Amino acid sequence: MKQLNAVITGITASLPDYVLTNEELSRLVDTSNEWIMTRVGIKERRILKGEEQGISVLGTEAVEELLKKTGTRPEEVDAVVFATSTPDHIFPSAASIVAENCGIKHAFCFDMEVACSGFIYGLEICNGLIKTGKYKKIILIAGDKMSSITDYNDRTTCPLFGDAAGAVMIEPTEEELGIIDAKLHSDGIGYQPLQMKAGGSKYPASHETVEKAEHTVKQDGRVVFKHAVSKMAEVSLDIMQRNNLTVDDVQWLVPHQANMRIIDATIQRTELPREKVMINIEKYGNTSAGTIPLCLWEWEPKLKKGDNIILTAFGAGFSWGSVYLKWGYDGA
Ligand code: UT7
Repeated sequence: MKQLNAVITGITASLPDYVLTNEELSRLVDTSNEWIMTRVGIKERRILKGEEQGISVLGTEAVEELLKKTGTRPEEVDAVVFATSTPDHIFPSAASIVAENCGIKHAFCFDMEVACSGFIYGLEICNGLIKTGKYKKIILIAGDKMSSITDYNDRTTCPLFGDAAGAVMIEPTEEELGIIDAKLHSDGIGYQPLQMKAGGSKYPASHETVEKAEHTVKQDGRVVFKHAVSKMAEVSLDIMQRNNLTVDDVQWLVPHQANMRIIDATIQRTELPREKVMINIEKYGNTSAGTIPLCLWEWEPKLKKGDNIILTAFGAGFSWGSVYLKWGYDGA
């Protein structure tokens, strides 16, 4: 039998309706549209409002749409993987909640937490599952409700994040398409500079952790920035080199959308022309695991079968990496 590749056969995304603008943020904290636009490049972000609305709400919308779009019956789905740092609960998994909501009853479901690198790590995991030959249809969801772990009194973090989820259908193919290569890294040096301190087993929720706002993201922005700038470019170049891809061979670069200046530095270092780079940070901010699928979904109409796409992300852990995808179908 020929070798199986894992290919994306459909993509959807779900965005909440509420638009949080820089103008509204500047009424909450001491900030301005000018600072946020020049230092980060975000104009607005989407926020999932309302009581008892977890990330599974967005995941469910994305998966319902994905089943329709790919003509898949729920009982055909073999696995549901949800890359998220903001599951509805510590357990059960958000993946199993989404599966239940969508009538998916014959799949195994689990969450994986790799912060902003969740989608690219998820692709590599699903690639391995598909290559066993045992599974025909795997849904990978990636996204976060970052507003649930954002401190809206902290001007250094609250402008950065938004809520969104994307979902892809991954299937086997014998064609030379899909996930061709992945290069993933982690370095525990990132423990202090980027974390949500409380709510896990080390610092369970207490009055004190709530008072100190320790259930929200804290970061040493400059340290994270420095690592992100060098690692995203480095790993993109590594994977291009390992696959003998020149700048001309690559149709699209999809960088994690955390800061426009990090994206610019990645463009500069990889020497890819700007028009080949997917950028939508201005509209949605940093949706953590959601940024890369959100870009692929927005650009889907322009994608062509066989396009060489380099994905690259950096996030908590630190975790980072790159995936080389050969797109599986004509978007239009
Ligand atoms: O996706 C996960 C990975 N995360 C990232 O990749 C984020 C990486 N880091 C960053 O994107 C940037 O470091 C930030 C956007 C978080 C911050 O930008 P920066 O250029 O590194 O700013 P800074 O932290 O060095 O702060 C510069 C100044 C400070 O004032 P002083 O000390 O120079 O007087 C801050 O207090 O800007 C001030 N500042 C603000 N001013 C207005 C920080 N936040 C704000 C704000 N509005 N929202």
